[in-house]
Amino acid sequence: MESKLFSPYRIKDVTLKNRIVMSPMCMYSSDTQDGKAAPFHFAHYESRAAGQAGLVMTEATAVVPEGRISYEDLGIWSDEHIAGLKQINEGIHRHGAASAIQLAHAGRKADLKDPIYGPSPLPFNEQLQTPNEMSLEDIQNVITAFKNAARRADESGFDIIELHGAHGYLINEFLSPLTNKRSDNYGGSTENRYRFLREVITAVQEVWNGPLFVRISGNEYHEEGNTMKDFLYYAGEMKKQGIDLIDVSSGGVVPAPIHPFPGYQLSYAEEIKRRTAIPTGAVGLITHGIQAEEIVQNERAELVFIGRALLRNPYWPRQAAEELGFTLEGPRQYARAWK
Ligand SMILES: Cc1cc2nc3c(=O)[nH]c(=O)nc-3n(C[C@H](O)[C@H](O)[C@H](O)COP(=O)(O)O)c2cc1C
Repeated sequence: MESKLFSPYRIKDVTLKNRIVMSPMCMYSSDTQDGKAAPFHFAHYESRAAGQAGLVMTEATAVVPEGRISYEDLGIWSDEHIAGLKQINEGIHRHGAASAIQLAHAGRKADLKDPIYGPSPLPFNEQLQTPNEMSLEDIQNVITAFKNAARRADESGFDIIELHGAHGYLINEFLSPLTNKRSDNYGGSTENRYRFLREVITAVQEVWNGPLFVRISGNEYHEEGNTMKDFLYYAGEMKKQGIDLIDVSSGGVVPAPIHPFPGYQLSYAEEIKRRTAIPTGAVGLITHGIQAEEIVQNERAELVFIGRALLRNPYWPRQAAEELGFTLEGPRQYARAWK
């Protein structure tokens, strides 16, 4: 069968061999607690590339040490991280997949003993620390950290960068009226709440010409949170700034319950794509090839991000192809078992 899921997708100079993306997933496996990649990471990312995902994206990778979720997070705050990230890239590229890195700062959701910060001094919950309110100098420092991280991502050989603007981490904390109570230019109106992300994007683009994605939470599950009107404003601005794709997740801004079902976040990706004509990625309980094919065929999103299903099975693309009756080429080494 002809399959759109298994058709190439081109973004700038990067061609993905299919529309399947390994969704970013924290592995908390930087055992040395200095943000460096460990043997686990090399096997983990290379095996999803061997499994024929078109794009393999790393987990949230911290742009500063205090922007980690845990001490075991991957980091990119120093040139010393480049060698390990290069090795991750070599493993991914060996199998014809493209690579992406998710650049992140945990903001008030950093579960660390060090001082943490955010746009406003409001804790996420009773377990996490109350963040210090960021000064204008703190804001500039983090913007510079994202830019330096993008330069290192380039030197490490990544094809694509994604900025983590979802799940209640720092960028999301600036975007959301639930977490941003600032009275300066970085808070208040929708335009002002977007300012931090705008400046991060501009800074990254000074050193990075390649494809740039942003992940957002397209629903905050709280009546005083961002609304679709706000998200459409952000998406429109991102489009004007030259963002190539918005990867639409949801939740995590405040501890609100989420009731997931197959494709539970898809309608947000679809609405943003339809109303602002920016390419989107769909994510969230997409577990079957037929479901993924439907999403791209009906142009509800350009790319399909697969999380837990790919954790369970690095060869999920093969399983999806089988469901669709599509003949997918596998690694030469596995030829006797693949068909
Ligand atoms: C173990 C685990 C770690 C995750 N870490 C991240 C992360 O680092 N960055 C991110 O944006 N999302 C993260 N997520 C969310 C996934 O990328 C994905 O959006 C979510 O799991 C829903 O997709 P799924 O139903 O296909 O798993 C994580 C999810 C899991 C299960």
